[in-house]
Amino acid sequence: MAFYPFTDTEQAYPRNQWYVAAWSHEISEKPFMRTVSGERIILYRQHSGTVVAVSGLCPHRQMPLETAEIVNDQIICPYHGAAFNPDGVCAHLPFQNHVPDGMNLKSFRVEESAPFIWLWVGQNDRADMDSLPYARELSPVPGQNLLFGMHSFHVQARSQIVLENLFDQSHISFTHPLTLGQRCAENGPTKPSDIIEKDNYLAFMRLSLPKGTDDALRAFFPDISPQIRIRSRSELFGVSLVVAAGSEILACDAEGEPVASVGDLVFFHAITPETDHSTHYFAGIMRNFALENDLVSTSYAERNDHVVLEDIKVLEAIEPCLAKAAASDEPNFVTDAAAIRVRRRIEAHLMKESSDAALI
Ligand code: FES
Ligand SMILES: [Fe+2]
Repeated sequence: MAFYPFTDTEQAYPRNQWYVAAWSHEISEKPFMRTVSGERIILYRQHSGTVVAVSGLCPHRQMPLETAEIVNDQIICPYHGAAFNPDGVCAHLPFQNHVPDGMNLKSFRVEESAPFIWLWVGQNDRADMDSLPYARELSPVPGQNLLFGMHSFHVQARSQIVLENLFDQSHISFTHPLTLGQRCAENGPTKPSDIIEKDNYLAFMRLSLPKGTDDALRAFFPDISPQIRIRSRSELFGVSLVVAAGSEILACDAEGEPVASVGDLVFFHAITPETDHSTHYFAGIMRNFALENDLVSTSYAERNDHVVLEDIKVLEAIEPCLAKAAASDEPNFVTDAAAIRVRRRIEAHLMKESSDAALI
């Protein structure tokens, strides 16, 4: 039976892909344990600052290594003292010279592209740097924009429904009536004005109708034009990083035509499978206005956390109902088009993975 919501594969997510394992700031010179793609992995920084990712259980007696000490970049198992190099190779045992077979930790390909630490969860020899989601626009430039409200959430639901939810505009008024609903109701779920599809990137662009500025906007932009439009975008980088409802405020002329960009607010979400039925969800925000205003940071971050928790509540209610669900039996709405397009794209990756595997 296909793994819901796919129709042609029993696999829950593509494995030969980059996923966010952690925020850069979460990883220090102490081991940090996170389960990704069903594997317990520890991440830590060497003295040089380079991040290392290796399997998080000692092969000798399965001791979790999250409490291990790191000495000279080596992991020291807290049970019987085996020492592992950053590449996972067991370099030393305390009471014998011979290191038996099977004592190495599995090493994972890891790349830091701040603010994210990316992990390749599939076969190491297939790690493809070209498919590392290019997050230039998510890297803040001091003085120009500010990254804030970076939080990690855990979702007891499969990653694909978490991902699709971010491309589903029609739930906003109902799942987020108090946090987002009223803001978005005026636009409703609109048809994208433009869709951009490339190898490693998919984007849906939307442009709101002109609307009058309100007091909140005038507080940030005192000289703003009487009318504005909002250009929003929902983007998928690779298979797991989403800029959902990133929105740019555009000043308009008297005819309601956009004339200048006033401010840009980017909400990003990295969706990483923990297991087939659970997901890590990294959410953060970046803006290029009111950089010094901590109150703005606090209020946007609090609201964003509420929004994410509202989504998680729905997704966790759905997950236990999916054991026998078949996407092929489900009706779709017109407003599901973007999420279905994302689903087809991920399913194409899955199909390619299984055909590549068949060739090995
Ligand atoms: S469990 Fe790690 S050395 Fe024994
Ligand atoms: Fe939502």
